[in-house]
Amino acid sequence: MKKYIFGNMKMNMTLKDIEIYIEKFLPLVSASRNEVAIFPSFVNLMFAKQKLTASKVLLGAQNVYSEPYGAYTGEVSAEMLKAVGVSYVIIGHSERRKLFLEKNDAINTKIKQSLGQGLKVVLCVGETKYERQSKKFKQVLEREISEALRGLYENELKNIIIAYEPIWSIGTGKLPTQKEVEQVSGIIRNEIKQEYSETASKNIKILYGGSINSQNAKTFSSIPGINGLLVGGASLVAEEFAKIANV
Ligand code: PGA
Repeated sequence: MKKYIFGNMKMNMTLKDIEIYIEKFLPLVSASRNEVAIFPSFVNLMFAKQKLTASKVLLGAQNVYSEPYGAYTGEVSAEMLKAVGVSYVIIGHSERRKLFLEKNDAINTKIKQSLGQGLKVVLCVGETKYERQSKKFKQVLEREISEALRGLYENELKNIIIAYEPIWSIGTGKLPTQKEVEQVSGIIRNEIKQEYSETASKNIKILYGGSINSQNAKTFSSIPGINGLLVGGASLVAEEFAKIANV
């Protein structure tokens, strides 16, 4: 089955780096059956789009603003992203929640803005180490999902992918067990069932993210209930991310 393999490049890579990266990456993934997307920084999006045009690799952005336009110095709107050829936008990444104090209601507005412009959304959810140890993670995940999706119709879910990223696993090399990821996929699907329907719960796409590399990609992308991977650090090296994209 087709998997979704997304590379979140975070605040890395200059224009030149992206050029070299894409030139190396495209021939390596030309036979991939998966939906592959790279998420470079805002300033590299337009250039990356030009380099990707002849390929099936899609383009994503790492963030978007919650308002459509206006006096919001330094921000980028969903319409602007759409206009440069972006397909996906990551919303609610734990780094944005923690460092930029992004809350669920802002995340909800960002999702609505993005869907309104025809962008697909990768909504990130996940618990801290403390929340996992204190068994609060189920509650945390349910809340993140229900508040992020508040007011959305069931037919809009086809343009939303939920990425489960345990915060304690991001960039640490620490991995949850396969059982733990499968359990969280169940929690997410159950939450979607409560809020929407059985069909919505079956159809929603769920990614796993956190310390994925070419060695563990196959294992984690094959966990029941998981439809793909959101990759950070390992997406920065073209050869490494290509191996993951070809799982
Ligand atoms: P990582 O990051 O793969 O470097 O752990 C994942 C992410 O933050 O999306």
